[in-house]
Amino acid sequence: MSLSIVILAAGQGTRMHSDKPKVLNLLAGKPLLTHVYETAIKIEHREIYIVYGCGGEQVQNTLESSQVSWVKQEEQLGTGHAIQQVLPDIPKSDDILILYGDVPLISEVSLTKLVEAAANTGFSLLTAYFDKPYGYGRIVRDGNDNITAIVEEKDATEEQQNICEVNAGFMVIRAEILNRSINSLNKKNKQNEYYLTDIVEIAVNDDVKVSPILAESAVEVQGINTRTQLSEAERYYQIIQAYRLMDQGVGITDPSRFDLRGELEIGHNNEIDVNVVMEGKLKLGNNNSIAPNCVIKDTIIGNNVKIFANSVIENSIIGNDCYIGPFARIRPDSVLDDHVHVGNFVEIKKSSLGKRTKANHLSYIGDTEVGSDTNVGAGVITCNYDGVNKHRTTIGDNVFVGSDVQLIAPVKIEDGSTIAAGSTITKDVDANSLAISRTEQKLVSFWERPKKK
Ligand code: UD1
Ligand code: CA
Repeated sequence: MSLSIVILAAGQGTRMHSDKPKVLNLLAGKPLLTHVYETAIKIEHREIYIVYGCGGEQVQNTLESSQVSWVKQEEQLGTGHAIQQVLPDIPKSDDILILYGDVPLISEVSLTKLVEAAANTGFSLLTAYFDKPYGYGRIVRDGNDNITAIVEEKDATEEQQNICEVNAGFMVIRAEILNRSINSLNKKNKQNEYYLTDIVEIAVNDDVKVSPILAESAVEVQGINTRTQLSEAERYYQIIQAYRLMDQGVGITDPSRFDLRGELEIGHNNEIDVNVVMEGKLKLGNNNSIAPNCVIKDTIIGNNVKIFANSVIENSIIGNDCYIGPFARIRPDSVLDDHVHVGNFVEIKKSSLGKRTKANHLSYIGDTEVGSDTNVGAGVITCNYDGVNKHRTTIGDNVFVGSDVQLIAPVKIEDGSTIAAGSTITKDVDANSLAISRTEQKLVSFWERPKKK
């Protein structure tokens, strides 16, 4: 028996009140659809079909995979109608695993059980028990506890609304059974839609037995229809990630204030304080600490690095034993060698700083190579932009750049030189020399301040 997988992702998601197609909303930095897809591909299958509609190409572009067959649902007339679009493409002998693109936390374990359960009856359904089942389709069972129908919230009687067993939105159905019943779907319901869920009653009336599988946990089948549900799923996901990292030995001050939107490879003895947001691909060595309110994206960090509060680092490489911040900003393509200090209100962009170099206060260093053991004083600016083009600055080893210096790029400061505070440097500076460019101090004695008229 081979398996076709269908992911339904055509809906707009009106309950989100957003211009974005619902399945493109992000959970831990990744579209809902991508979460579902990445779990789906773990299940052995012949083909994955994604039914898309709202958002069109935008939805298709989220998955780079060429292994997906995209099927367009021009008009969103319901989940049953969505399946109708793809059914002709699926071989009659296949089992079809149907997933909803707005239920992102589904586990591989539950899906595997579901697929196995369909082997005998040709129809299995994932259910869950919710204390507050509001919004979900309710599972109707007969006196022998067999599933006979799914009734949608809006169409349910008061008695049915009290049922706490819900349709999780996942089923496996043999293509041949679905083909037999699909044309019996109609829009005679409160939402005037073709409900896929009506298939259950149609199939049961046709003597098919539905094998129920209970989801591993209720959260994994949480559907995302509103922004509140999205935020709940996000926090759940983050806490799971935080616990997993803590089990690996990462110190996380407060898992409810931890956000990883990507992948983190991390060594031992690291400490992450509250409200740190980590995005993209990150790699951290050992013995690092990250203070509150830092944002770190796509960055590699060595060992024994201290990142102080409110620092922002993106797409950079940080060596060992560095101190960064508080309030530092390291922009893309920057490389800090070992023992570098970057202090408050210092911005580094597309620049490299050699071993033991320090830029501790209020500076802009852009498009610059700085050697080792160099001190960049407070308020130093590399003037890299002439209004049209960017130019590079080179600063050698063991250079002392005094405070409030402007280095007008392109310019080169050789090893061992000293730049006097307050200088504007427009020409290259030789090694071991002093460059000073400022008007000599004048003194006007008995200076009278202007008086108010
Ligand atoms: C659906 C189920 C409900 C179940 C719940 C689980 C139906 C009729 N109801 O309700 O029993 O408890 O999911 O989360 O199936 N979609 C399309 N084309 C359409 C309509 C929807 O592709 O024409 C897609 C949506 O993008 C979404 C999924 O199908 O990914 C589910 O649609 P949604 O409108 O969210 O259904 P629910 O009301 O949540
Ligand atoms: Ca839904």
